[in-house]
Amino acid sequence: MSKPKVFVTRIIRDQGLDLVKDFCEVDLWPDELPPPRPALLERARGVDGLLTLLTDRVDDELLDAAGAQLKVVSNHAVGVDNVDIAACTRRGIPVGNTPGILTDATADFAFALLLAAARRVVEADAYVRQGRWKTWGPSILLGADVAGATLGIIGYGRIGRAVAQRAAGFNMRILVNDPNPIPEAEQNRVQAVDLDALLRQSDFISLHTPLTPETRGLIGADELAKMKPSAILINTARGPVVDQQALYEALKARRIAAAALDVTDPEPLPLDSPLLALDNLMIAPHIASASYASRDRMAYLAAQNLIAGLKGERLPHCVNPEVYG
Ligand code: GLV
Repeated sequence: MSKPKVFVTRIIRDQGLDLVKDFCEVDLWPDELPPPRPALLERARGVDGLLTLLTDRVDDELLDAAGAQLKVVSNHAVGVDNVDIAACTRRGIPVGNTPGILTDATADFAFALLLAAARRVVEADAYVRQGRWKTWGPSILLGADVAGATLGIIGYGRIGRAVAQRAAGFNMRILVNDPNPIPEAEQNRVQAVDLDALLRQSDFISLHTPLTPETRGLIGADELAKMKPSAILINTARGPVVDQQALYEALKARRIAAAALDVTDPEPLPLDSPLLALDNLMIAPHIASASYASRDRMAYLAAQNLIAGLKGERLPHCVNPEVYG
């Protein structure tokens, strides 16, 4: 019996790729950079399954190019803002994602950014390398205290909760803002507040919302203006959740103290972006889930979702279960 045909849009970790290769006839995009749009449309033609990354736009055009035989889209990410879910659902195509297994790695990284921004780790490294370290000094590179400070978490899903666990270890006061009610069992640990209160009271604000029409531009000029001048903003969610121009202006004018971003808009951030001239901004290249174990598990789960879809079975993690009627 012939194997199902799939297009895998980048080399993923062997834990997933080997599984896909065992079950499928694989067309694998070999480059470090994602397939350009015309190549993606061309390589998708006639496949039974697509294993995509967050850099690939999955929309009507791509689904039409693939053809009516397409059975599954497996996205190697927890976020699915690159996928037009409604377009997949209309065609009865299940979409898989990779939640849960990257929660700790992402929360670790959000906390790493928080600590590094508070204590100016990147600036300190540059200070040493630039030969500016002349002596121990009582006022050199002073930073913000983390222990005992107030952390505002916007988006209290899996990753937001995991960040709260870490913050509890630092005796932080934790405010959360989420459309869903906070379960009673957690109410002794975190306090649910409206966005306005969170913005005004937090020393650190960490974003953990998915990117949706409601969260696009959630942190704009008005929200930044409500933050404390000493506030530090951390974004490991999606770049467009923050209005980047407004953030640039707030940082430049020191209306907030600092920001640390793992995600930007666009990605990659162009080298001539004015953001890169700011000394109170730290930027990482979207690596919050990039621990060995997390990326191995993401690849494996993306492969499992893909194969389940090809077999006509329910995906282990399906973002549009309505396709199952
Ligand atoms: C990474 O950003 C992901 O959504 O998995």
